[in-house]
Amino acid sequence: MKIDIQRLQKQSGIIGTSEKILEVLGLIAQVAPVDISVLITGESGTGKEVMARAIHKHSKRSNILMVTVNCGAIPEGIIESELFGHKKGSFTGASEDRKGYFEQANKGTIFLDEIGEAPLGAQVKLLRVLETGEYMRVGESKVRYTDVRVLAATNKNLVELVKKNQFRQDLYYRLKTVRINIPSLRDRVEDINPLVERFALEFTRSNEILYRGFMPEAIRVMKQYDWPGNIRELKNFVEKIMVLEKGERITVDMVNRELNDVLLDSVSDNFQLPISINRSSEQAEIDIILRQLFLLRQDTELIRNLLAGDKENNMLEVNPMLSNDNMKVISPIPDSSMEVTEDGQPLIRDDAIGEILMKNLEKEAIIRTLRFYNNNRRKTAKSLGISERTLYRKIEDYNLEPKIKRNNG
Ligand SMILES: Nc1ncnc2c1ncn2[C@@H]1O[C@H](COP(=O)(O)OP(=O)(O)OP(=O)(O)O)[C@@H](O)[C@H]1O
Ligand SMILES: [Mg+2]
Repeated sequence: MKIDIQRLQKQSGIIGTSEKILEVLGLIAQVAPVDISVLITGESGTGKEVMARAIHKHSKRSNILMVTVNCGAIPEGIIESELFGHKKGSFTGASEDRKGYFEQANKGTIFLDEIGEAPLGAQVKLLRVLETGEYMRVGESKVRYTDVRVLAATNKNLVELVKKNQFRQDLYYRLKTVRINIPSLRDRVEDINPLVERFALEFTRSNEILYRGFMPEAIRVMKQYDWPGNIRELKNFVEKIMVLEKGERITVDMVNRELNDVLLDSVSDNFQLPISINRSSEQAEIDIILRQLFLLRQDTELIRNLLAGDKENNMLEVNPMLSNDNMKVISPIPDSSMEVTEDGQPLIRDDAIGEILMKNLEKEAIIRTLRFYNNNRRKTAKSLGISERTLYRKIEDYNLEPKIKRNNG
């Protein structure tokens, strides 16, 4: 059975014309009709579930159920009974015999979402059912058999989890026979335009808002953002802007304003003290770097526009963050030689001569400049006339480093 990619896209609602997404669709067309397990990887919001549905829909099992199991959402204590069922009386609360998901999905497909979150105990049993179709209900010794096709998805790096002994290597090898990696949106920016069109049309239609389109320049700016939440984030962004700018043609300024809000939210999230972030420290650092790159790109864009004589984009509109006080670097603890002004900023007291320390002034200058430049260290260093290396050292010396509580576990 040969699957036509255009039909596959249409029937599964998968938008995109980029080479990368067409490659993914080509793979799906190849593997869908064959009864093998598929591991779908990709960042959050890239469309892993959409692809899993497409595979099931174009498989021989399409007229039977696809059961979706979110392995990360089921409490560890009950996951085995959820997956494989249980016998009445096998544990407190087991008042009836119960079929598990593998039994319910018999003859159909089971989609094990967030497989990286499955507890090790359940992984052993998953491997067995994947290899032989055999499983036992909790509290029973009778071996049962199920005929399911397994699809699994994760946004985790399973190789890393295997190294940390959090994921079984044998299960990983079993799952990765066919692996489909869904590229991040930032790696297929050509898809932004058709996705925006689709999301905007769907949204305006269901909310009876007039849709007058996005200016090409606005789309161009959107292509420069890194979209850490991928297609889900893009969809929310489009819906939000449609509500805020009801019935208007979406301009570059509107997009800039919204994107800056998004960036401010995430940057101040990152720098408020203390916060717990649910990502690895490397990922958090990469995010910060990507955001700084985005700001840098915007600056380049601004200069380009100014050179091209674009009067519409003035400094504040392009980057209102420069004047924004929302950045919570660290609240300076004023030194006694400084008084606190109305806006909360310390200033040298008139009668303080004789008690001023250079280092307090220096620290104050660094705090203010960092805040002014939204914690952008490159710009801060430049503005203070010191090297970035010196700035890093001083941030450390004065203990100005935001204390981000990292969750590496
Ligand atoms: N190619 C696409 N075309 C149209 N809509 C898409 C596409 N990919 C994803 N979407 C939409 O983006 C949203 C996120 O997709 P999905 O839930 O499949 O992502 P995910 O990778 O499973 O995310 P997570 O890792 O957070 O579970 C959904 O609303 C989905 O309909
Ligand atoms: Mg998902």
